[in-house]
Amino acid sequence: MRILGIESSCDETAAAVVADGREILSSVVASQIDIHQKYGGVVPELASREHLRQIVPVVREALAQAGMKLTDVDAIGVTQGPGLVGALLVGITYGKTLAQALGKPLVPVNHLEGHVHAVFLEAHRAGRTAKLPAVCLIVSGGHTVLYEVTPADPNMQDAGARLLYRKIGQTRDDAAGEAYDKVAKLLGLGYPGGPILDRLAAVSNGAPAPVKFGPTKMKGNLLDFSFSGLKTAVLYHVREHPEYAAEIATREAALQRGERKFEQLLPLCSPKTLALVQEFQNAVVRDLVERTMRAAEDLSVESVLVSGGVAANSQLRATFEERSKSSGIEVFFPSRALSTDNAAMIAAAAYSRFRNGILADVTLNADPSLTLA
Ligand code: KG4
Ligand code: ZN
Repeated sequence: MRILGIESSCDETAAAVVADGREILSSVVASQIDIHQKYGGVVPELASREHLRQIVPVVREALAQAGMKLTDVDAIGVTQGPGLVGALLVGITYGKTLAQALGKPLVPVNHLEGHVHAVFLEAHRAGRTAKLPAVCLIVSGGHTVLYEVTPADPNMQDAGARLLYRKIGQTRDDAAGEAYDKVAKLLGLGYPGGPILDRLAAVSNGAPAPVKFGPTKMKGNLLDFSFSGLKTAVLYHVREHPEYAAEIATREAALQRGERKFEQLLPLCSPKTLALVQEFQNAVVRDLVERTMRAAEDLSVESVLVSGGVAANSQLRATFEERSKSSGIEVFFPSRALSTDNAAMIAAAAYSRFRNGILADVTLNADPSLTLA
């Protein structure tokens, strides 16, 4: 069964064809980073307009790469939410129209469930199986949330299985990716912040941290996260130390000239800035890994799944791998391409939904705050 997946919840227009929920036949992503970069974040109005321009060519390209015609598609899966309403509406309207015109089933997909399936897609490609029950950390620019994932029927763990989700923790303020983006912005390192901070931290070479960020203490649910205090701590540190101001201004000028690459920004960073970035990343990674592994141990799950844009982070991946070895709980990540928003994960999630009779009709509408559990 070949499902065409369509994703337009934020700033990526994506389409993909996935066979039987696990074989990626094609996956095309048109990123809008270039458009939003100069504003330092996603501008919803511009995102919707760009989705409108991209949706038709992106779907065509996904079909061409899969060697298929529209009529070969067995069903269409489309992101219903969560996300930006105007952005979602572009994919939903296009998906609905295709389904109507072709007389094919339309499957509504929760974007977060898509991120969970991104892990299964990658595991399948690597010839591994992520055994359930699992704890899943979804960590992106919009979300930082922990779920317990169990199969509705313990004997059914294939691509079509119905999965049950229980939310066991979430951020009380900023998402981890949002913290990366805000810290990069205040340091004059551009948008999005994650990839550049990841690379700068990797070359800090163990320089002593100019400030120490301790673990975030949470009252109530110990599996909840909070990143806004950390972001504010970086801000205060930078304000209290005027020596950062000149290099930040130099980098902001470089960004203005369009010099946003790692190689261009690295020479404009002092060792102290690199060490600050490393300390920020240590704090984020420690928090994400500690709470996720605590949940996995408390619930005695078989595996840990990590997905979403921040799952592309090298230090996060390395730290989870280490903890996996010491705890004996297997950890699974999507490839970097499947970590960030894509439509293969939407088509994969659509397969399981379709198998379980979850279908939509022409009344399908965008749900900007759709939850998974
Ligand atoms: O999943 P995604 O593409 O979109 C959302 O649904 O939000 O995630 C984008 C987020 C951004 O905040 C970006 O800074 C972050 O993921 N990100 C990273 C890395 N690559 C992307 N954060 C840390 N390290 C990375 N390597
Ligand atoms: Zn996402």
